Amino acid sequence: MSVQVQGVVARGKGLPVSLETIVVPDPGPGEARVRVQACGVCHTDLHYREGAINDAFPFLLGHEAAGVVESVGPDVTDLAVGDYVVLNWRAVCGTCRACLRGRPQYCFSTFNATQKMTLLDGTELSPALGIGAFAEMTLVAAGQCTKVDPAAPPEVAGLLGCGVMAGLGAALNTGNVSRGDTVAVIGCGGVGDAAIAGARLAGARTIVAVDIDDRKLEKAKHFGATHTVNSRNVDAVEAIREATGGFGADVVIEAIGRPETYEQAFFARDLAGTVVLVGVPSPDMRIDLPLIEFFGRGGALKSSWYGDCLPSRDFPMLVDLYLQGRLPLQDFVSETIGIGDVEAAFEKMHHGDVLRSVVKFDA
Ligand SMILES: NC(=O)c1ccc[n+]([C@@H]2O[C@H](COP(=O)([O-])OP(=O)(O)OC[C@H]3O[C@@H](n4cnc5c(N)ncnc54)[C@H](O)[C@@H]3O)[C@@H](O)[C@H]2O)c1
Ligand SMILES: [Zn+2]
Ligand SMILES: [Zn+2]
Repeated sequence: MSVQVQGVVARGKGLPVSLETIVVPDPGPGEARVRVQACGVCHTDLHYREGAINDAFPFLLGHEAAGVVESVGPDVTDLAVGDYVVLNWRAVCGTCRACLRGRPQYCFSTFNATQKMTLLDGTELSPALGIGAFAEMTLVAAGQCTKVDPAAPPEVAGLLGCGVMAGLGAALNTGNVSRGDTVAVIGCGGVGDAAIAGARLAGARTIVAVDIDDRKLEKAKHFGATHTVNSRNVDAVEAIREATGGFGADVVIEAIGRPETYEQAFFARDLAGTVVLVGVPSPDMRIDLPLIEFFGRGGALKSSWYGDCLPSRDFPMLVDLYLQGRLPLQDFVSETIGIGDVEAAFEKMHHGDVLRSVVKFDA
């Protein structure tokens, strides 16, 4: 039996989101239906609403979530009703060329639910990142459910489902930050601060936080920044060089997704350094840089999708670190809100008032 629940829908480019009744089908083969307990508001949701990802409106937003498995499809064996899970957007296939080479974190053929959730009139919804979790119930591929220790509350554990994992992984996996490295992070929202926390966890000796908002820089210190730079007032590249003995950082992480900040990242790294782009650019953005600089500096220019994470490996491990008090995931939660407050949360995000607003559903 399909169920009808309330969900947050973006109907068209730039239109405010609306709360709509959505129809969530019974799980078919390979699928699971999850009762969502909490779902964070990520900047990528706003990108969807603005039409910056694609035009497949209407979107069912929300993709940073934890909850409990409500029902599973006929052939699902590794997941049971009642399991506590974080939803992921990297359910690996096991058979694509990346998976076959032992690199499932790059899987090119990840799974989502086959059936579509719809509006009451039958209009098919595009769930954000194949999840759609600003809803009391959502339908996903069983592989999108990663079991974690239920001792971690859902508003905290759910953060690993997207932005915080993306930031942690940009430092730990993609940037491969190691003990003694110097690191700079440009853009200190939820993603950037997670990159800072990841760099600290990996043992970086210098962590330079760059933002244009002093409130964000204060927070960044809390997560491990050793230096802060307000790039509204000073030149970010110069300031990063200054904080790193005049050389630039070993790893620079761009967590905004804009050409001008990418350019700062590019010039703020040391010779043989690494740039990691984790911010998501819009399709119209271009960069123009001298090719000789790419060549002459050596190193690596990388982008990081979802922090190159493998959910089954990384989510339980990071939840354990949180439970041991070694990763302050709870400090990313600026506020918990109701399902009707997502539009207001976008507004707060836009004004830099929050790291993460998290929608909490009644138990
Ligand atoms: N690659 C991935 O897998 C992945 C996953 C999740 C989110 N993202 C992307 O990461 C980016 C950040 O997400 P978020 O949720 O942290 O967003 P956010 O809006 O909370 O944070 C952005 C931060 O950048 C700062 N900023 C804006 N313009 C700046 C500038 N010119 N110079 C310096 N700082 C500036 C803002 O003050 C803010 O603190 C977004 O583009 C989002 O789509 C990527
Ligand atoms: Zn694969
Ligand atoms: Zn996200």
